[in-house]
Amino acid sequence: MSNRALEVVEFLLTAHLYGENRGLDENDLPPRYRRVFWSEPEDDAETDEDAPIGIERPLVVTESTARKATGVEHPWDAISDLMFTQKEDFSGRISLTQPEMATEWYLERAEPDRLETNPTIAATVEDRDDVDVTHAEARERTRPIQADRVWIDSLLDQYFDEEEDAEMLDLVQVRAPEEIEMTLEDLVLTQDQEGEIQKLMKAIEHREYLADIGLREIGKILFVGPPGTGKTTVTRALAHELGLPFVEVKLSMITSQYLGETAKNVEKTFEVAKRLSPCILFIDEFDSVAKTRRSDEHAALKRAVNTLLKSIDDISLIRDEVILIGATNHPDQLDSAAWRRFDEIVNFPKPDRGMRSDILRIITKRMDVAEFDPDAVADRTEGLTGSDLRMVLREAVLEALTEERMSLTQEDIIDAVEDFEERDNLKNMNMMSDGEQLVAGDGSGHDDDEGHDHDHDEGHDHD
Ligand SMILES: Nc1ncnc2c1ncn2[C@@H]1O[C@H](COP(=O)(O)OP(=O)(O)OP(=O)(O)O)[C@@H](O)[C@H]1O
Ligand SMILES: [Mg+2]
Repeated sequence: MSNRALEVVEFLLTAHLYGENRGLDENDLPPRYRRVFWSEPEDDAETDEDAPIGIERPLVVTESTARKATGVEHPWDAISDLMFTQKEDFSGRISLTQPEMATEWYLERAEPDRLETNPTIAATVEDRDDVDVTHAEARERTRPIQADRVWIDSLLDQYFDEEEDAEMLDLVQVRAPEEIEMTLEDLVLTQDQEGEIQKLMKAIEHREYLADIGLREIGKILFVGPPGTGKTTVTRALAHELGLPFVEVKLSMITSQYLGETAKNVEKTFEVAKRLSPCILFIDEFDSVAKTRRSDEHAALKRAVNTLLKSIDDISLIRDEVILIGATNHPDQLDSAAWRRFDEIVNFPKPDRGMRSDILRIITKRMDVAEFDPDAVADRTEGLTGSDLRMVLREAVLEALTEERMSLTQEDIIDAVEDFEERDNLKNMNMMSDGEQLVAGDGSGHDDDEGHDHDHDEGHDHD
């Protein structure tokens, strides 16, 4: 019997059992099934804030829902010769005529792994002697619905459907953990960073205990470091790891675009986070607040800053299940009122030689590089960040492609490092000076001696 039949029978059985057992909720459905049964609020209906969104019983299976859920191209063909299945000609509905028989058929064929990731079926069969999966275990292994894109979208639709709210959603980016590609394994972290991440994960896991003993000052962290050192990526990877939605906002966007609206935007940002909780709220460019606080020309901005500080005070991991992570390239510009609100500060330094070497190994993991010597490249790239190294490798790959090569050499990479350094010099050149550097062909654009200075600000970050 083909695996396709097993896929389709599992789907039918799950839909049937879910319909029968009102004690089950959305988190008992495997994520790939939830998606299919998600009820979109209808466009023409008056949007009712309290209208239930989610999955409504009964779950009706047709060829097309079965195809979407299982990936089987012709679901009915896969199961039509089984005794316990039927298809109604008129409605196209596919169902089980004898669910008990279907259950037996399924249990005989399903490997344990399959059953362990289907809480609906596990709940129904956990008491049998021949089954050794429990409902609780299956729930544990199933991603919560809060991590699904469909869930996030419908919540956002429900609460932010008016025009100005829609604008707000341009400022706040929401990502489902299923959409995040980079994981913590792809990142090279310092011991300090790893320690902080461990602590945070433990705090989330044991938040009830922390609340019980009266420890509430956790879950607000500030990442400090130059551009390209992984602050954003680590936060996203964390969302992926924890299976939490990721809400990202750049503070400079909120404050610059709609001056009069800024305080309201800040409030809405926190509201989005609370609605989506448990989630991670990432506030990037945190320093832009401090700057506006100092320049006191605009009352609206002052109000916004105060709103921000107050919102941070009011949000809590323990109560609201929101983890707040701020990031800044300019810790020196952050005033003490903002600084004080974070209970941990994590440093993101430029990578040292060993880290650079590890980062290079990760970046080139799927590349073909002849005589690759990451340590030698690390020696040549003092002062470069993870993001710089990524750019170097990208250039090396593109250069090789211009020669129709899909494999690299160590030399390609060293050449790309030199090009990068040259670019870096250009970036810092004063275009208004009358230096001969601006004249093509004299070669003085290359001052490639030992003394490269990477301690300047990176380009996108100038104020
Ligand atoms: N420690 C690291 N390990 C592996 N890759 C890294 C590391 N640091 C940076 N990178 C790479 O650089 C890219 C850019 O990093 P990221 O955007 O997270 O930096 P950032 O600190 O948020 O910078 P900015 O301050 O400009 O926002 C990442 O996608 C990642 O590929
Ligand atoms: Mg960033």
